[in-house]
Amino acid sequence: MPEDAAPHDPARREWWRDAVVYQVYPRSFADADGDGIGDLPGVRSRLPYLAALGVDAVWLSPFYPSPLADGGYDITDHRDVDPRLGTLADLDALVAEAHAHDIRVIIDIVPNHTSDQHPWFRAALEAGPGAPERDRYIFRRGAGPDGSLPPADWRSHFGGPAWERAADGEWYCHLFAREQPDLNWAHPEVRQYFLDTLRFWADRGVDGFRIDVAHSLAKDLSEPLRSQPHLDARLPLDGSDPLYDREEVHEIYRSWRRVFDEYDPPRMAVAETWHPASSRTFLYARPDELGQVFDFSLLKSEWDAEQFRTVITRSLAEHAGLGGGMTWVLSSHDVPRHASRLALPVGTDLDAWLAGDGRTPAVDPEVAARRARAATLTMLALPGSAYLYQGEELGLLEVADLPRERLQDPVHERTGGTLKGRDGCRVPLPWASSGPSFGFGAGDAWLPQPDWFADVAADTQSGRPESSLELYRSALHLRRKLAVDDSFAWVPTDDPQVLHFRRSDGWSCLLNVSAREVPLPGRVLLSSNPSQGERLAPETAVWVEEG
Ligand code: GLC
Repeated sequence: MPEDAAPHDPARREWWRDAVVYQVYPRSFADADGDGIGDLPGVRSRLPYLAALGVDAVWLSPFYPSPLADGGYDITDHRDVDPRLGTLADLDALVAEAHAHDIRVIIDIVPNHTSDQHPWFRAALEAGPGAPERDRYIFRRGAGPDGSLPPADWRSHFGGPAWERAADGEWYCHLFAREQPDLNWAHPEVRQYFLDTLRFWADRGVDGFRIDVAHSLAKDLSEPLRSQPHLDARLPLDGSDPLYDREEVHEIYRSWRRVFDEYDPPRMAVAETWHPASSRTFLYARPDELGQVFDFSLLKSEWDAEQFRTVITRSLAEHAGLGGGMTWVLSSHDVPRHASRLALPVGTDLDAWLAGDGRTPAVDPEVAARRARAATLTMLALPGSAYLYQGEELGLLEVADLPRERLQDPVHERTGGTLKGRDGCRVPLPWASSGPSFGFGAGDAWLPQPDWFADVAADTQSGRPESSLELYRSALHLRRKLAVDDSFAWVPTDDPQVLHFRRSDGWSCLLNVSAREVPLPGRVLLSSNPSQGERLAPETAVWVEEG
């Protein structure tokens, strides 16, 4: 059994149940070697910053060898480090040093697909139709008299059909980019490969795994292939879909749990699923499966107290009795940053807003800062674990006006430029108000950074009590003292745009989404408003101690 660097007290509640996890998108976090791409030594160099921030764990988005057709979610070797990002020794050093700071390390596992440059896929292409090498993927003859039509009507999440035709005339399935062929999870070698991959990383001391597109592995591949022309929003929510959230997928995660439990402490995991939230979403978090699943309901909410109240109530109810851990998320590398999102009027079409470079409706940076701070403080007061996305602690806005010729997200190309994609939340971080790439690295960053980064850089904010960074620091440190269990109760308010919930022993959170001030029920422990007075101002959240 591998030695564990992280301290573990078996009598304690599992660490991840209340953890604040900080998502690092490695190529945009910190660039130690000055090539414009963030790397693992860069992450390591910023561990003191993360420790001072007060996070319990970092989740590293993929750092594996990758042609970067989808920002690293297209992997050629699941058990190595991309040379541009470092080496396995760098990863080991990062894990050891993170543990020394009492920070756990979670890594991304991408089991739905590989890169088209993965040795398995290259072998499949070379071997030709009918060869066993093709069985690890989903190859089919095309439809129509000459096979020139895709075998089924499945759609890619990045636009267009989920099928690409190989030179020999067969088609292969890719639910994402054409450079990301889907694996066939009915194949025993595929299953074994990922069990071995989990052990490979757990043996190196990694504490947990974030499972990419966790709901899509078990597909109904019986012939004839079933029609499925819908993407997430219109999926059936009863397990009957041929591609997503099928009952059989849970058996895969039960086998993974057996691997996690070979370790002491058991490794943790969190599922990523983007199908609409339903009671089935939370099944992935059952204790004999992954333990956590991302709850994206806050991330999908607009600046409206009723929406917040509804999703919080529903998530708490649907978790009840399952034994899984709760999670909350406001931002990630896949969606426009929440500071911008929440500043937009309710009902704004985010895709259209981005396509117009974020000009209409315009985001007022002061409104954005007020609302983002209030939403964050509310999220951090909820029971369960919170996932933060790098840069949100700086209050970063979406970089909505990236020039189209610089975009790298395959979404842009695959939709013929209709959608701008996700690069606007992936712009390399501003660490310093001056110098090359705002302290990200010694050279230009892989995406252009806006001039306003100078005003929000980490070094500008650090030590300024009214800054976003200091609010996050205060909140994370205070939360460690206050968040002791999962107790939660709504407290009725006179105005539906004011939320009030009580946690353990007199710790309450209020969120005022209304346009008027309201009275406070107790002593303020922390406020999202730097000039907090006697009453609760509009667009403010507070943590209070009730007498
Ligand atoms: C997940 C990732 C996203 C990626 C996709 C395909 O949704 O979060 O960034 O593009 O999976 O791997």
